Amino acid sequence: MLFSHFNLGNIELSNRLAMAPMTRSRASLDGALNDDIVRYYQQRATAGLIITEGAPISKVGRGYAFTPGIYNQEQIDGWKKVTDAVHAEGGKIFIQLWHVGRVTHPSITGGEQALAPSAIKGLNKGYGPLEEGGYGFVDQEVPRAMTKQDIINTQNDFVQAAKNAMEAGFDGVELHSANTYLFEQFMLNSANQRTDEYGGSQENRVRFLVETVSAVAQAIGEDKVGFRLSPYLVIDDPDVDPEMPSLALKALEQLSQLKLAYVHFSEHVATWRPVPSSFRRQVREIWPNPVIVAGRHSKESAQDILEQGYADVVAFGEYYISNPDLVYRFKENLALNQNDRSTYYGGDAKGLVDYPIVDPKVKHLAVNDLC
Ligand SMILES: Cc1cc2nc3c(=O)[nH]c(=O)nc-3n(C[C@H](O)[C@H](O)[C@H](O)COP(=O)(O)O)c2cc1C
Repeated sequence: MLFSHFNLGNIELSNRLAMAPMTRSRASLDGALNDDIVRYYQQRATAGLIITEGAPISKVGRGYAFTPGIYNQEQIDGWKKVTDAVHAEGGKIFIQLWHVGRVTHPSITGGEQALAPSAIKGLNKGYGPLEEGGYGFVDQEVPRAMTKQDIINTQNDFVQAAKNAMEAGFDGVELHSANTYLFEQFMLNSANQRTDEYGGSQENRVRFLVETVSAVAQAIGEDKVGFRLSPYLVIDDPDVDPEMPSLALKALEQLSQLKLAYVHFSEHVATWRPVPSSFRRQVREIWPNPVIVAGRHSKESAQDILEQGYADVVAFGEYYISNPDLVYRFKENLALNQNDRSTYYGGDAKGLVDYPIVDPKVKHLAVNDLC
């Protein structure tokens, strides 16, 4: 099943493997792209679907230095080269639209104070300049509680970023509503103490997500919009919130009227809780559109979850860092390259485009001679 075609709305995927969104921090400080990033995605175009690294939708939405943005013309032009290169290889590509909320620092946003539902500092760290020099993980500062106008402006930024993505030639967009960033901060009781219609009840805490997804879908088309949720992740310890699974189901219920491209569950990073089958069944009952899952999958576990009917597409993260031709390696039962974790974030072409490629179809894209 893993290698069979799948229709994601109107988009035909050549297989059910997706490349999961992964921040690699290889852009310029102001978020412009370069040819290494183009080559990186082009090498991985045999994935049924590529979901790009998180792309900040605004300066204040950036939480990691050197992430490629989608809010100015230079960035749009850079992404256009990426989508052209992926399409030329027959691939499909969505961009992940990202606003980190409080998970940042003025040294990363260009001096702006972080925005969040409430003025509460969290534990998750951004990636920015270190006092001792160089770049690394930095603590948050207390964010500013968003006014109603901030909420409207941020939703407009998402809509504009989605339009920019269409101009850049993407097949669709994925809203990053997982992993403790802005949308999850609205959902988490510990981060959201608002008393207006965006805080309190479950319906209020999913309102920002439901409204923003709907606005983006209206702007660029329902079938071009997916979103990512992580109800079973445990990233920011005090934020373990037993209500997250029911909030996720509430959001799905409210968005189920739209013919959206997919929901994508981020199920396993450093710390996590197992996802019960009962949750997966509830998702299928409520949600009529495709489901993507990601998190520590092997070829075998991916096949299992597809066959059980709990997912339509399985996304792979770390395997895709070191195996641009993962589809071919899985098909042919070939060994996988080992990952070099020291080159995950930041740096140059090393660890980005120089992993060995054996698939004869994409071998011409290999870059082996970095020095
Ligand atoms: C280097 C790295 C960067 C990541 N960046 C993002 C990101 O920008 N957006 C996101 O939603 N998830 C991000 N993730 C999480 C992955 O999308 C994926 O869910 C996770 O790695 C689990 O899948 P895996 O076990 O197949 O790697 C990142 C993971 C890694 C390893």
